[in-house]
Amino acid sequence: MTQTMLLLPGDGIGPEVVAEARRVAEKIAPDLQFTEGLIGGASIDAHGQPLTVDTLVNAKASDAVLLGAVGGPKWVDVERNLRPEMGLLQIRKGMDVFANLRPAFCFPALVDASSLKREVVEGLDIMIVRELTSGVYFGEPRGIERGIGDKSFGYETSRYTAGEIKRVARVAFDIARGRRGEVCSTEKSNVMESGLFWREIVTDLHAAEGDGLVLRHLYSDACAMELVRAPKQFDTILAGNLFGDILSDEAAMLTGSIGMLPSASLGAEGAPGLFEPVHGSAPDIAGQGKANPCAAILSLEMALRWSLGQPEAADRLFAAVGRALDYGARTADLGGSMSTQAMGDAIIAAL
Ligand code: NAD
Ligand code: IPM
Ligand code: MN
Repeated sequence: MTQTMLLLPGDGIGPEVVAEARRVAEKIAPDLQFTEGLIGGASIDAHGQPLTVDTLVNAKASDAVLLGAVGGPKWVDVERNLRPEMGLLQIRKGMDVFANLRPAFCFPALVDASSLKREVVEGLDIMIVRELTSGVYFGEPRGIERGIGDKSFGYETSRYTAGEIKRVARVAFDIARGRRGEVCSTEKSNVMESGLFWREIVTDLHAAEGDGLVLRHLYSDACAMELVRAPKQFDTILAGNLFGDILSDEAAMLTGSIGMLPSASLGAEGAPGLFEPVHGSAPDIAGQGKANPCAAILSLEMALRWSLGQPEAADRLFAAVGRALDYGARTADLGGSMSTQAMGDAIIAAL
């Protein structure tokens, strides 16, 4: 049966990097069929909202969704519920992709591209499993109460149910089983009730289902510190939505550039995954052909592996990215001068 991938290029550098991922996909998975849609600012401009029902229906009917990035200065004054970023939150929630896999892998050729010393990042291979459809990002009530002077306030709710914690922790456990078998769960149970509950549930789940896995807990601030002090101590990091967001940007810089970090957002078994770079729309370099397409291309690699049932093709693509880097292919963020398209060409040549 033909497999379909919905491309949602989005805004800023999104369309530039997704175009390269598509060219690579045409080479490595020639039978894959593409449909294309709008999300974020591009959808606001066309339809007045960052995600339409039609796009969400198409996403759920596809085998996988590859998203570029959303947002940009053009839409900062748009009403909050209609901002580009809302489209992203809505598609994650709508597809129920609760487990966001963000691998921080340092390619051998890039050991000197990180701002950290070579010996600190050489051989680095971390998988961050970030909860993606709940927590403080979605908790109710939330809002801004105005008109009472200095007593005005803004607030949200950090809320996790036992079921939400268990299902993402199970994914982290499964991932760790295919790796070094070590899970580090991170929260702020020293100050947050939702963090304390998180630690309790993860501990219980480990006792019940964690055979053969080593589990430890670390406060998220300490985890952030350890990530730059001695990152190779980590194998699989489990985090809630907010802390996972922050820790994954930090981990990106261990690999040389945020332009290298892909992600896979997975839901129930058999449901389509959402694949997107960890980076944003990079308004400062958009439209200049400078963006690094590796994160988008490696997101395609994750789609082949996690949604399309093509692990051999994924392995070949991963190796090709490594080889292109070995040959010296570098965009500006990696200290080189290649254009986005030239980087795509280098990976296709390596394939
Ligand atoms: P950003 O990731 O867009 O950019 C941060 C820095 O990294 C910039 O200097 C940028 O030039 C650089 N960068 C990012 N991706 C790169 C790439 N592929 N190649 C080379 N350099 C790259 O983060 P930001 O500036 O905080 O956010 C810009 C917009 O993107 C905001 O509207 C934000 O909400 C949105 N955003 C979207 C997503 C997403 O769609 N998944 C993720 C993060 C931020
Ligand atoms: C990410 C981004 C998003 C997030 C924003 C743009 C909503 O930072 O994907 O990491 O916070 O999840
Ligand atoms: Mn982020």
